[in-house]
Amino acid sequence: MNIIFLGPPGAGKGTQSKLLEERYGLIQISTGDMLRAEVAKGSETGKQAKALMDAGKLVPDELIIAMLKSRIAQADCQNGFILDGFPRTLAQAEELDSMLSSDGKKIDIVLFLDVDEEILADRISGRFTCGNCGKTYNDVSNPPKVDGVCDSCGSHEFKRRADDKRETVVERLKEYRKLTAPILPFYEKAGRLHKINGMLPAPEVTSEIEDALASEG
Ligand code: AP5
Ligand code: ZN
Repeated sequence: MNIIFLGPPGAGKGTQSKLLEERYGLIQISTGDMLRAEVAKGSETGKQAKALMDAGKLVPDELIIAMLKSRIAQADCQNGFILDGFPRTLAQAEELDSMLSSDGKKIDIVLFLDVDEEILADRISGRFTCGNCGKTYNDVSNPPKVDGVCDSCGSHEFKRRADDKRETVVERLKEYRKLTAPILPFYEKAGRLHKINGMLPAPEVTSEIEDALASEG
C-alpha cells in the first residue's frame, strides 16, 4: 500500500507515519528528513536547499522530484511506502502520479491531517527529536517517559530543528497556504482524500487513520 500524508507544518505527519511504518511494515519517506541529511553532509543538494529551508520556503520542484524519484525506485520501497512531506505543490502531485503509473503503481490513499493554525505554532515550538533514532517528542503533549532519555533507544541526545523558530514557522505556514493547500482538491476529485481530525490526542488520530485504511481494504 502506498500512502500520502498531507497537512500543514506540525500537523503530526512525521509522528503518525513513524507509527504506521512500524505497524504495517511500510517505509516512511520524509522529504524534509532527506533534505536535512543532505544539509548535514554538505552535499550540492544540501547547499541549494539550506537557505530556502532556513527561510521557511519550499525548495524547487525539480530538486525534490529528482530526489523522491530515486528514493522510491529503491528495493525497500517496492512493498509500499508512506510519503511524509511530499507532494507539496500541484506540479509535484502530478509528477508523482505519472512516475508511479509508468511503473504500474499508484497512491492508494491520501490522509489529510486537519489541524487549526493556532495549534500548530505551539506544537512546533515544543517539538524535539531523538538525535539517535529520530523519534519525535513534544515538551507539552508528548515528553519522554523518563526525562532526558529516549523511549525507543535510550539515547540522551535530543535536538531541535533550525526552522522551528516562530518567525520561520510563520513563513512555512504561508508557503503551505499558498502552494500546498491547493493540492487538496486534486486528490479530493480523484476520490482518494480522507480527512482526519489531527487535533485529537495522537493515539486517537492513529485510530481514525486505521479506520480510513480499513475502509480502503
Ligand atoms: P518538513 O520536514 O516536511 O516539515 P513540515 O511539513 O513543515 O512538517 P513538520 O515536520 O514540521 O510537521 P509534522 O506534520 O511532521 O509534525 P510532527 O509529527 O513532527 O519540511 C521542512 C522543509 O523542507 C520545508 O519547509 C521545505 O523547505 C523543505 N521541503 C520538504 N519537503 C519538500 C517538498 N516536497 N517540496 C519542497 N520543499 C520541501 O508533530 C509536531 C509536534 O506536535 C511534535 O512535537 C509532536 O510530538 C506533536 N504532536 C504530533 N501529533 C500530536 C497530537 N495529535 N496532539 C498533540 N501533539 C502532537
Ligand atoms: Zn531514540
